[in-house]
Amino acid sequence: MTLVASVLPADFAELGHQVQLLEKAGVDRIQWDVMDGRFVPNLTFGPDVIASCRDRVMLGFEAHLMVEDPDPMLPRWVDAGCELVIVHAEATRHLHRTLGRIRQLGARAGVALNPATPLASVEHVLDLADLLLVMTVNPGFGGQRYLDGMATKIAHARALIDRRGLAVELEVDGGIGPGTIGHAAKAGATVFCVGSALFADGPSGLPGRVAALRAEATDERRNP
Ligand code: DX5
Repeated sequence: MTLVASVLPADFAELGHQVQLLEKAGVDRIQWDVMDGRFVPNLTFGPDVIASCRDRVMLGFEAHLMVEDPDPMLPRWVDAGCELVIVHAEATRHLHRTLGRIRQLGARAGVALNPATPLASVEHVLDLADLLLVMTVNPGFGGQRYLDGMATKIAHARALIDRRGLAVELEVDGGIGPGTIGHAAKAGATVFCVGSALFADGPSGLPGRVAALRAEATDERRNP
């Protein structure tokens, strides 16, 4: 399993230090929740903020682009140091071309689905994706309640990826924490983006929370 830390709940005045704490705590990747105030009702940060943290850690960076029309700025996220760029299927008119473009830029390509968006909308582009992100909240804010109705979509995505023998990571994002990470793992997710549940109760407990989340996800996958 892969544990990805969302920086959305981090202290934005200390981002460089916060990503170092996350690395020390043992997360596998950092997710930058990029929001434009149009695709989602929130605004966060651009590529320069991500670039300012790039050399603070060795961890991989993924850019989760919750933005309308992501194509014009694709090179900026890769130049900022993101090895994985995730676009929303709902945000680009030509998803097939967009995913191919991300790979041409030298990054891995991810596609995200909002809770209401059917899996069928990515059926014909999964061969161009390295990761499928199934949102388990309506995107825009951290700390929301996990939508356990997404388990069916996660399970169908797992079955589709396995049936076609695709090397596509299956990630979930939103309300993932104790109790829900096991539910998502049982449904077939293997990559877990966690924000609020990691940052709860301050940085001192980070390593313990990372270990507990890994254990819960691994147990569920071993003994579904
Ligand atoms: C979309 C955001 C959140 C964030 C994690 O709203 O992208 O999903 O990553 O949020 P929580 O705090 O629910 O883990």
